Amino acid sequence: MPADLSPIDKAKFVAAKRAVDYVQPGMKVGLGTGSTAAWMVRCLGERVREEGLRIVGVPTSTRTAELARQVGITVTSLDDAKWLDLTIDGADEFDQNLALIKGGGAALLQEKIVATASDQMIVIADAAKEVAQLGAFPLPVEVIPFGWQTTKALIEETLVALDVLNRDVSLRMNGDRPLLTDENNYIVDLHLKRIGNPRQLALVLNQIPGVVENGLFIDICDIVVIGHADGRVTVRDINEGTLTDDRIEFAPTDNIFADLGD
Ligand code: A5P
Repeated sequence: MPADLSPIDKAKFVAAKRAVDYVQPGMKVGLGTGSTAAWMVRCLGERVREEGLRIVGVPTSTRTAELARQVGITVTSLDDAKWLDLTIDGADEFDQNLALIKGGGAALLQEKIVATASDQMIVIADAAKEVAQLGAFPLPVEVIPFGWQTTKALIEETLVALDVLNRDVSLRMNGDRPLLTDENNYIVDLHLKRIGNPRQLALVLNQIPGVVENGLFIDICDIVVIGHADGRVTVRDINEGTLTDDRIEFAPTDNIFADLGD
């Protein structure tokens, strides 16, 4: 591992490196979005190039699709693949039940569709993403641009009756314009500080007209691989009820570290 990688990148890298061990020849694999998922795509590309691993990847965003192609992974659409063996993705927060907040990178809609269409979802994360209770990270909600201010007002009104600590809702911007998702929708971020009942919140939000999807992933993630900067990885499997420690030993490879942008 190059010494100049930041501790957080080392942690993300080892989580990604460990997670790609789950990928077997012939699998259809959902490819997540974000800085941790980008490490996973690079590690998977390395296996494709060096081992001749034959897999098909289904990206969850245009930027992941671009990176996957760059590193040599064959990419297809979810409609072509239909059902996937495995999805590996990052998360903004996860709790002890492996409930997640996702969407910090604005790709939550495709991420949720792809993860739900997979036999198994593995989340890769650095240890800072683990929380006792979800909600410190603002919860992203994808909304239709038409009437978005009304949708935002309805979300605010709905939050009054729910077990959350704070109720600020903001439109995510890209410079002086609303950020557009890959589906040409907007993202509103719910600054809740604490989510008492994630399952209820996820259900209620999706009942509001104009809401396309929310960033709470409940009962979707099976395994979390937590990376640490010193090379340790902890694997928690919610179905098996196991917690195992591992260590990634590796030598710097040819070009996996060449492109560090996400
Ligand atoms: C993308 O929309 C998100 O769901 C990401 O998976 C999440 O934000 C984690 O991103 P990082 O790995 O960059 O922290």
